[in-house]
Amino acid sequence: MSSTIEPAMTEPSVKVETRRQPMPPRERLEAMFDVKDLDAIYGSKPAVKGVNMEIYKNLVTAIIGPSGCGKSTYLRCFNRMNDLIPGFRQEGVIRYQDTDISGSNIDPVAVRRNIGMVFQRPNPFPKSIYDNVAWGCRVLGMKDNMDERVERALTQAALFDEVKDRLKASGLSLSGGQQQRLCIARAIAVEPDVVLMDEPASALDPIATQAIEQLMHQLKSQYTFVIVTHNMQQAARVADMTAFFSISRGAEGERWGELVEYDATEKIFTAPGDKRTEDYVTGRFG
Ligand SMILES: Nc1ncnc2c1ncn2[C@@H]1O[C@H](COP(=O)(O)OP(=O)(O)OP(=O)(O)O)[C@@H](O)[C@H]1O
Ligand SMILES: [Mg+2]
Repeated sequence: MSSTIEPAMTEPSVKVETRRQPMPPRERLEAMFDVKDLDAIYGSKPAVKGVNMEIYKNLVTAIIGPSGCGKSTYLRCFNRMNDLIPGFRQEGVIRYQDTDISGSNIDPVAVRRNIGMVFQRPNPFPKSIYDNVAWGCRVLGMKDNMDERVERALTQAALFDEVKDRLKASGLSLSGGQQQRLCIARAIAVEPDVVLMDEPASALDPIATQAIEQLMHQLKSQYTFVIVTHNMQQAARVADMTAFFSISRGAEGERWGELVEYDATEKIFTAPGDKRTEDYVTGRFG
């Protein structure tokens, strides 16, 4: 099904093709995450403050906003990747199904088992294509039917046909777009619930970008995707829901990111409720 989103605002207009299915009514959506009063802080400097939002199961949710507004920091809160940064702390609650995954009693490795991540730059390990995909399964002791698992993940990541004759070749011998799909295969091989993606297509050409967008579209019946993107067209093409973050400034000149508006993507791009969102999506920001 194809439709066109055309912002109601003034130029420069972003006319965007989307292949999204119409979203189910809100009351039928199931929350995968429920974020309450989340602050993410480096040392004494908050990167984001006071975030409240639900992220829905089996949808693609985009996070957009200007550089430095805390998108990557916020995304990393969902699988405890910020734990690796000295001086980082967070306050508030991130409920994942029925568990608050932000507490210090939670094992970050267990969280990452269910909530995988794909980074901006493809980062295959210096191992074979096969071993890259099998890696997470081996770490987690999922050792049965490994060939099947690897083939399934590569097929889901739309890479299998391109690599099936060279599974023993290094992951680093692939093109950038193939490497990114390999990283997606590695993330989904362990069958997570959620895949977080931080600007996954920013280093890719339009064809590789399209492959990754199609893949999200095809896989969202099995996974929940949360994607940070600077590309408005991409957000409009792939995301069901869009969250716009912006930078707030305090009296002393301090800056932090805050969630300005979160709604169906169509609404954010055609009839946003906040002037700051409108300025951003029409390119008048800054
Ligand atoms: N490891 C870190 N240590 C200290 N401060 C950090 C760290 N990472 C990010 N920050 C700060 O947190 C704020 C938010 O950064 P973040 O990378 O989350 O923004 P972003 O919205 O992803 O930006 P971009 O669009 O440029 O990727 C910035 O002020 C940044 O300087
Ligand atoms: Mg970032």
